[in-house]
Amino acid sequence: MVQYDFSGQVAFVTGAAHGQGRSHAQHYAKHGADVVVTDVSRNMDTVPYDLGTSEELEETASLVEDEGQEALAIEMDVRDEGDVEAAVDRAVDHFGHIDILANNAGIASMADAVEMEEEMWDEMIDTNLKGVWLCAKHVGQHFIDRGDGGKIVSTASTAGAIGIPGQGHYVAAKHGVVGLTKTLALELAEYDVNVNCIGPTGIDTPMISGINEAYGEEALAAVTEMTGPWNVFGDGGMIESEDISEAYMWLSSDAARYVTGVYLPVDAGFLAK
Ligand SMILES: NC(=O)c1ccc[n+]([C@@H]2O[C@H](COP(=O)([O-])OP(=O)(O)OC[C@H]3O[C@@H](n4cnc5c(N)ncnc54)[C@H](O)[C@@H]3O)[C@@H](O)[C@H]2O)c1
Repeated sequence: MVQYDFSGQVAFVTGAAHGQGRSHAQHYAKHGADVVVTDVSRNMDTVPYDLGTSEELEETASLVEDEGQEALAIEMDVRDEGDVEAAVDRAVDHFGHIDILANNAGIASMADAVEMEEEMWDEMIDTNLKGVWLCAKHVGQHFIDRGDGGKIVSTASTAGAIGIPGQGHYVAAKHGVVGLTKTLALELAEYDVNVNCIGPTGIDTPMISGINEAYGEEALAAVTEMTGPWNVFGDGGMIESEDISEAYMWLSSDAARYVTGVYLPVDAGFLAK
């Protein structure tokens, strides 16, 4: 594992109760950062699997503390500007500053675009796109006010680069994250803020197991039949959360100081096909 030095820094991680967000929080702590772990900690009507819970968020906080770093757990819905603003203010009051925003929170659901209910579309766009903007807006404003630079890393998806049947709302949101990333990179460059996003291929988290359970493994199998295997290595299977955390660490570090506005696939060759 490459070692980064985030000592004295504070990372603000969304969707940290479980899945990739928990892994990112643990990685920031392993590399010396204190971590604000945030999550909605309740389910949503159009998401057919369990999202993170308050207990899981507390467990993530303990895992950060196990690495010898301080954790601050905040329940926050990235769709709600009041929630986001209050959480950023609380984190800044507590730690004095935020140095890194890890925009990871997200949901999944499936329906063909011509059959989709408006509520499913809205919950998706509000979470996976508006939520990324709201966190970037409030943490970005803090970076500007503080005048000491910053890093914003967001999780897009390979769905930020291609169409995927049954995923029109998710694909639209993730393409939106890529466009927002490029624009924020230009707007925030004068404040020494790097803004990048990552495009993971399939990862075995509660999101994917939940989607498999809700729609049947055939639903995802039908998608991969059209898109090809998620992974061109070995058995074509999924990759691990820590593979995405490693990219987060690099993009959050000064080793990537001249990397901004980038959409970085961590996709085991998925998009190369
Ligand atoms: N798992 C995959 O195969 C995959 C592939 C590419 C991209 N992604 C993206 O990776 C990110 C993390 O996904 P994951 O696989 O860890 O999923 P997950 O469901 O395991 O974890 C997502 C976390 O986000 C939280 N969350 C959801 N909506 C929220 C909201 N409105 N406000 C605050 N928190 C909220 C959930 O409670 C949960 O703890 C998402 O943006 C997802 O779209 C996942």
